[in-house]
Amino acid sequence: MSAKDDTPEKPESFGVSRRDFLKTAGVGSLATAVTTVGAAELEAQAGPRVVGPGEVPVTLMVNGKRLDLRIEPRVTLLDAIRNRADMTGNKRVCDRGTCGACTMIIDGRTAYSCSTLAIEAQGKQIRTVEGLSAGNTLHPVQQAFCDHDALMCGFCTPGFVMATVALLEKHPNPTPEQARRGLDGNICRCGTFTRIMEVALSVKGVARG
Ligand code: FES
Ligand code: FES
Repeated sequence: MSAKDDTPEKPESFGVSRRDFLKTAGVGSLATAVTTVGAAELEAQAGPRVVGPGEVPVTLMVNGKRLDLRIEPRVTLLDAIRNRADMTGNKRVCDRGTCGACTMIIDGRTAYSCSTLAIEAQGKQIRTVEGLSAGNTLHPVQQAFCDHDALMCGFCTPGFVMATVALLEKHPNPTPEQARRGLDGNICRCGTFTRIMEVALSVKGVARG
């Protein structure tokens, strides 16, 4: 018998080296992992869905009413409401999130509508200054601005009114410090802030929001 014949026979049935086995096992695990991860996670890994740049349907709830629009995703909430829905109460002044003239209340919290995309405000309750009065009866905060002569040119006023409403819905009897903090996102270039503080500290009967 030759030396070759003395060599113990290797098992033939596998025909796969250790290296090949590990490679195959790795691929198998990967395939299992992919199956387990599932379509939802793969979709999440693919990133957010891209919409636009053309017009897309956007539905807003403004002052309790449904508003169906077709707008580009880049359109701000302020522009959508002022230019497409003809509600021009809230003003564009700085258009960059510094003055507060465009303040609306979204889901109970003040927001600069010039710096909020309309498409992001879908599914939320949006309140503008137009939604405050009941027919010819002004909201108590609007009435107090008149009674305290708390405006001059009026450009900042709708934003201040909305910020004051949000403040009083959260703190029906605010301390001066709470009032200052609640209104510190708004600027009046005409210098009516002292009168506006009088409003914030005097109005009673605003229901907690
Ligand atoms: S117009 Fe929006 S913060 Fe000035
Ligand atoms: S009343 Fe003119 S900016 Fe405030």
